[in-house]
Amino acid sequence: MFTVRPFDAPLGAAIEGIDLKSDLGDELMRGLTAALYDHRVIVIKAQSLDEDAYLKFGRQWGEPIPHVLDHMRMPGYPEMMCVGNTEEKDKTDSIRLGAALWHTDQSYEQKPASATMLFALMAPRLGGETRFTDMAAAYEALDTDLKEQIDGYLVSHLYGAAKLREGEFIASPLINQSQTNHIPTCKHPLVLRHPVVGRKALYAVAQSAFAIEGLGDDEAGQLLWDLREHCIQDRFVYRHKYEIGDLVIFDSYSTMHAATPIAVAESLKDENARLNWRISVRGLPQVHREAAA
Ligand SMILES: [Fe+2]
Repeated sequence: MFTVRPFDAPLGAAIEGIDLKSDLGDELMRGLTAALYDHRVIVIKAQSLDEDAYLKFGRQWGEPIPHVLDHMRMPGYPEMMCVGNTEEKDKTDSIRLGAALWHTDQSYEQKPASATMLFALMAPRLGGETRFTDMAAAYEALDTDLKEQIDGYLVSHLYGAAKLREGEFIASPLINQSQTNHIPTCKHPLVLRHPVVGRKALYAVAQSAFAIEGLGDDEAGQLLWDLREHCIQDRFVYRHKYEIGDLVIFDSYSTMHAATPIAVAESLKDENARLNWRISVRGLPQVHREAAA
């Protein structure tokens, strides 16, 4: 159906030989979801899609999420966002650099993203990579005692509440009370079992994670910090440099990611212009919904 070429990296694989404009049958979608769950991040190469075709493809992976930062939604396509350095909004550092910290999409929502996709329409010559870390491998690598200790821990999440590492940028700020009201504190397990393949992984130990039920603030803060440092070691990380036409999909149940800071592009012709269309979805891919029901 297509070729899967694992990267020379701890996670991630390129998918070659398919055109997402054609009608994708269930067998092909099952192949793509299997590749995603095997490799955590897949990059479907050389795609050419307009907004409608991309959104149609996105819906096969789950229910697209209109972002709580509603000022950043794409006009006419509330379930999509333009991520890059070419638009007027991107001149604001806190918007352009608002994903340059380790995070898990929508971990601050009761129903977080199950997958996110980024489709590269412009790719910078320098910078703008996305780093991904394998949270299932990171979990596997923990000491047995620590695994037993943290199994069952419930973590409290609030947008932007985690401590930042040196060099990280704050998450793009919420700009009004309505956005704040939309995302009160919520809780997620520290160790999640993947809803399709059943594999355990550490979940969302950065950006929004700030407390653990039953633990004091200092102990919880230290544990979350230590786990994040553990997860982002080079041995768990893949850094993706985009090419135009890359459609990157990552499994939110078994990855965290961080953008790389990038400067504003002078124009659309700037060799360092960057533009990705983002869709995040929640729930299961269509081809897995029946099995779970
Ligand atoms: Fe993100």
